[in-house]
Amino acid sequence: MPTRVIQTDPFDLVVFGATGDLARRKLIPALFFRDEAGQLAPESRIIGVSRSKLTDETFRDLARASLEEHVGKKNRKAEAVEKFLTRLSWTSADADKDAGWDALARRLADAPERIRVFYLATAPELFVPICERLGAHGLVTDASRVVVEKPIGKSLDSAREVNEGIGRVFSEERVYRIDHYLGKETVQNLMALRFANALFEPLWNAQHIDHVQITVAETVGLENRAGYYDTAGALRDMVQNHMLQLLCLVAMEPPRSLAADAVRDEKLKVLQSLVPVTPQTMTERTVRGQYRAGASAGGAVKGYLDELGRDDSETETFVALKIDIANWRWAGVPFYLRSGKRLSTRVSEIVVAFKPIPHSVFTPDAGPIAANHLIIRLQPDEGVKLWLMIKDPGPGGMRLQHVPLDMSFARSFNVRQADAYERLLMDVVRGSQTLFMRRDEVEAAWIWIDPILQAWAASKEAPKTYTSGTWGPSASIALIERDGRTWNEGEE
Ligand code: BG6
Repeated sequence: MPTRVIQTDPFDLVVFGATGDLARRKLIPALFFRDEAGQLAPESRIIGVSRSKLTDETFRDLARASLEEHVGKKNRKAEAVEKFLTRLSWTSADADKDAGWDALARRLADAPERIRVFYLATAPELFVPICERLGAHGLVTDASRVVVEKPIGKSLDSAREVNEGIGRVFSEERVYRIDHYLGKETVQNLMALRFANALFEPLWNAQHIDHVQITVAETVGLENRAGYYDTAGALRDMVQNHMLQLLCLVAMEPPRSLAADAVRDEKLKVLQSLVPVTPQTMTERTVRGQYRAGASAGGAVKGYLDELGRDDSETETFVALKIDIANWRWAGVPFYLRSGKRLSTRVSEIVVAFKPIPHSVFTPDAGPIAANHLIIRLQPDEGVKLWLMIKDPGPGGMRLQHVPLDMSFARSFNVRQADAYERLLMDVVRGSQTLFMRRDEVEAAWIWIDPILQAWAASKEAPKTYTSGTWGPSASIALIERDGRTWNEGEE
């Protein structure tokens, strides 16, 4: 089935930090793909802004280079690239100075009614100063909206300050807080699976589900992001946002519709129902780890401290958590989360483990009866598998086998999987906030995360070390095995 492309209304997209890593790796390629698909109205413009003194031409050269680097050759026809580049122009402006802002205002002045998107692909310290300049220079129109990336704060207090600052210029319905995990195809499919099928929802509760596992494992290490990562760590970098969002989508009540606030209200209730971690429960419910040298992604790699060039960092590169949700649907169903750098393999998945059958009618020679698992794979090999027991085919008595009912999206639909940013950018232009985080959600996540950070900071224990290329510290295995369960490593 061909994918449906609906052209957006014309827009002006102003990208702050347009020469940075995010813009080069994600935003420029995503906009190019959408342009090539015919989704960008012909008049739409992309204006790069930063302190750098570029010209329109040098910005286009940079964008051409980033397409060469990040878009496969077969998806990059020269004609389409050149057409896309004509949309790009450059204005130099500094968040801390007045120079440049009026020039930007003049660039935009010829289309005052047009949708205006300000994308802040900058260091988070600049979010508020940029919003203030936009306001002060009269750049914020009725059709304007602002997009911010994580991290929004480093704690509840700092997140509130950032949200306040942005909120002084942009009302909440104009603020788009990106969590790129929400733009991933399979994450959307989780909603389709739950709410477009009658099959799962009656079973989606503590009566039928034994536990849920969410794993986001990476093989990469610091990737030249030491400055940011060492002050963040895995809990802030992955759990506060991406992983809690995944947990919310699994655990939320069916929203009344997919309208932004309907979905966000339900996610918020989940965040508010998470049982807080205390200094007393910290050891039993949390594990933090830091990688040592080892082998990962096919080669020998340095340990975290060596990569960092310091030996005193206690920043965690791995975290595992056992989370309880205090509500009727989930009481007694633990959610186990783990995420780390330099792990054995790159995989992100959600495992919904159903309860075992209450009684077996089979004789022992039929073999063991495994519980049903629903595995939602975000990456790689996006898809959904439902592991079921069936009879071993052929004669010879009743022997049972555990096999997956397999829906691998890439194979089944044979389409290029669009990057999350393609969907999210177009949602901003369309004015759809469903896949973006509302202020209260971000703050509720921090309310739950802060006590863990505080308990870790107060504890004398350093993060547990783990060898690169493994599944993290043994304490992570103990965290789940204490409960008589194991992390999913065999089923895909
Ligand atoms: C980012 C984190 O938000 O997500 C990175 O800051 C991480 O540390 C990345 O590597 C993972 O994203 P993805 O889409 O590659 O799973």
